Amino acid sequence: MAKDRIAKGTLARELEIGVVDPKLYGAFLEHLGRAIYGGVYEPGHPKADENGFRKDVIGLIRELGTPIVRYPGGNFVSGYNWEDGVGPRNQRPRRLDLAWRSLEPNSFGTDEFISWCRAVNIEPMIAVNLGTQGIEAARNLLEYCNYPSGTHYSEMRRSNGAVEPHAVKVWCLGNEMDGPWQIGHKTAHEYGRLAQETAKAMRLVDPEIELVLCGSSNRDMVSFPEWESTVLEHAYDQVDFISLHTYFGNRDGDTGHFLAMSLGMDSFIEEVVATCDYVRARKRSKKRMMLAFDEWNVWFHSNARDDNNIPWQQAPPLLEDNYTMEDALVVGCMLISLIKHSDRVKIGCMAQLVNVIAPIFTETGGDVFRQTTFYPFRDVCQWGRGVALDMKIRSQVYEDDEFGPVPYIEAVAVINDTVGELTVFMVNRDLNNSQELVVDFRDFATYSPQNHTFLKSDNLKSCNSLQQPFNVKSKEGKAPTSSESDVSFILQPGSWNVFRFFDQQIYDKASKKN
Ligand code: AHR
Repeated sequence: MAKDRIAKGTLARELEIGVVDPKLYGAFLEHLGRAIYGGVYEPGHPKADENGFRKDVIGLIRELGTPIVRYPGGNFVSGYNWEDGVGPRNQRPRRLDLAWRSLEPNSFGTDEFISWCRAVNIEPMIAVNLGTQGIEAARNLLEYCNYPSGTHYSEMRRSNGAVEPHAVKVWCLGNEMDGPWQIGHKTAHEYGRLAQETAKAMRLVDPEIELVLCGSSNRDMVSFPEWESTVLEHAYDQVDFISLHTYFGNRDGDTGHFLAMSLGMDSFIEEVVATCDYVRARKRSKKRMMLAFDEWNVWFHSNARDDNNIPWQQAPPLLEDNYTMEDALVVGCMLISLIKHSDRVKIGCMAQLVNVIAPIFTETGGDVFRQTTFYPFRDVCQWGRGVALDMKIRSQVYEDDEFGPVPYIEAVAVINDTVGELTVFMVNRDLNNSQELVVDFRDFATYSPQNHTFLKSDNLKSCNSLQQPFNVKSKEGKAPTSSESDVSFILQPGSWNVFRFFDQQIYDKASKKN
């Protein structure tokens, strides 16, 4: 029988990290596999609306509550001509998408993406092509999207049916330009200069935009962090964010190691922050660079299958990972890592949103289901809004060859005093023992426990599917017990947990107002 472990911790006002930007809980939609075609867009599907947008998918995205979506890639954007995707559909060209060796029909493009965002109540975040294109195409696309009227591209948009500007605020200056696989891959100096000049031109078109510079494709790139230092040296003054990308996988079947990988994400963020601040010091700049973790997730289940993909199909089933319970735990730890660094990470995009390494999975022509990873992502989207608070926890650890001592408990809290809500997110990495965590809660004496939900399965390899859509799902647990000074949290082995606390007086007042 599993033996409980006991840990102690503190949650205090002075452990404030910073205000969580809701954009931390963004997602990503790429022209890749069945993300667009057969995912969000499927004219003729029984649940499609008049625009061809799948309403069943929209329903789940609304339930998820992600506030911003990055588009159209990813690797795809580095070979994409945005003008192929606007105007009358029957005149749009079919193209070879070299990034994913697929056929791109271009029946979904910028205007459809914006209409879809409006339908789901999501903010668009658009990447420009700095692989095969450059300054000219980027500023034209921005003019098309954001300039009101009376110029070539703004009138083109209006004649395509979008009378009002799309008002896209956040723009990515290319994608993973450090990666040799990227079409139009560049050296750090080449990219830094191009990004700097593209940013300058784009800001002349619309000074209100925010720009994301490409950082390294992952922490293992040999050019990391020299890449960051060089590209920031060029473009520091023109951009607002630098990007980070990370994907984890349990390739050797060592679940303890897999669950520890979020510690690598912590280090990656801290190293990029240090590099940004080094460049800031060199430049004697007053500006603090923020981070956009605009691709992160678990990605490995589909790798072998994708190696055998037949090229030049339209919407082939690529990167279709079916996520397990243990993947959901890793996703939970990654989300906690983002919140713990929310003073500097202001944008996050789970990559991706539908079908392609995604929390939502559809059958083309058929049904849709929530993957295991849907639940932790939904929980933070819903409850992770406010001010992030670090938790000091003295938990037992296990040893990992790469990461050293790994705490069994991963946790962070988010408080929203104006509505009287405090939420604690926790993962128990211990797969055999439950944990009792006793937390000094004196700073939050007016907050009382409301409820507890958790995600857990006795089989770490359990997944959801079209046949068994609720095999793994979030369940109601027991609200924690509290004494005058402490709150006692019980975490089951291998579980993701959400504990909610209300300051009843403030909560009731705020609920009445709304
Ligand atoms: O999200 C899948 C791919 O991963 C993206 O296209 C690319 O940017 C990254 O390498």
